Amino acid sequence: MQRQYLVAGNWKMNGSLETNRSLITGIASQRTHCANVEVLVCPPAVYLAQVRELIDGHPINLGGQNVADQDKTGAFTGETHAAMLREMGCTYVIVGHSERRALYGETDAVVAAKFGVAQVAGLVPVLCLGETLEERDRDQTETVLARQLGAVLDRVGVGAFARAVIAYEPVWAIGTGRTASAGQAQAAHAFIRGLLAARDAKIAGSVRILYGGSVKPDNAAELFSSQDVDGGLIGGASLKSGDFMAICAAAQAQ
Ligand code: PGA
Repeated sequence: MQRQYLVAGNWKMNGSLETNRSLITGIASQRTHCANVEVLVCPPAVYLAQVRELIDGHPINLGGQNVADQDKTGAFTGETHAAMLREMGCTYVIVGHSERRALYGETDAVVAAKFGVAQVAGLVPVLCLGETLEERDRDQTETVLARQLGAVLDRVGVGAFARAVIAYEPVWAIGTGRTASAGQAQAAHAFIRGLLAARDAKIAGSVRILYGGSVKPDNAAELFSSQDVDGGLIGGASLKSGDFMAICAAAQAQ
């Protein structure tokens, strides 16, 4: 099954009106060099309206970084409903990023709820999974991935993964400059795909599994060359258009 590479930029809490403009201008100007790769940018929520205008007419998708776990709008101060993201032009939303899990107390159950609400609103969730260094050292990587994915599978069923993306992001590799080896990434991706395959082989074969964690222009090609790595979720390197597009070009060259 041929899966289209997806390279997604997670801007996290970075940006300004001015830097967003130059970042998108830079991405758009180099977009033809990676025409077969799907490109996604996920700016902070307050900039969605601006970035939506900037990407207008360019093959660049827009995504949210977070979404409320509530299925209805209402009295939830500070939260953003999935339908609002959709209305602002988002087609994707990141759910369960390790920073949300670690810093904002998101449990597997909350992440699963967010995944479900996003899909109901027509968004494609980018579900982040990944173990901490302590968990890897204790040989618990597969247990953690199975638990995190299992919580979502139990809530929404395997069929929901026909319209979802998974991102494997080992926590110890995020923002640390220490990336997983291509072998470590491939092993985790194959394990995740296997968990899905046990429930539905066709869906397992079609779901895209991105790698995230210190992906840079100089390691992207090797990571993307692995069979079960279908692109990347890029943090730091997504803030420089040259680096981000070099990563997209590495996907294009596969
Ligand atoms: P990083 O972040 O590329 O800066 O390591 C990746 C992520 O957190 O999605």
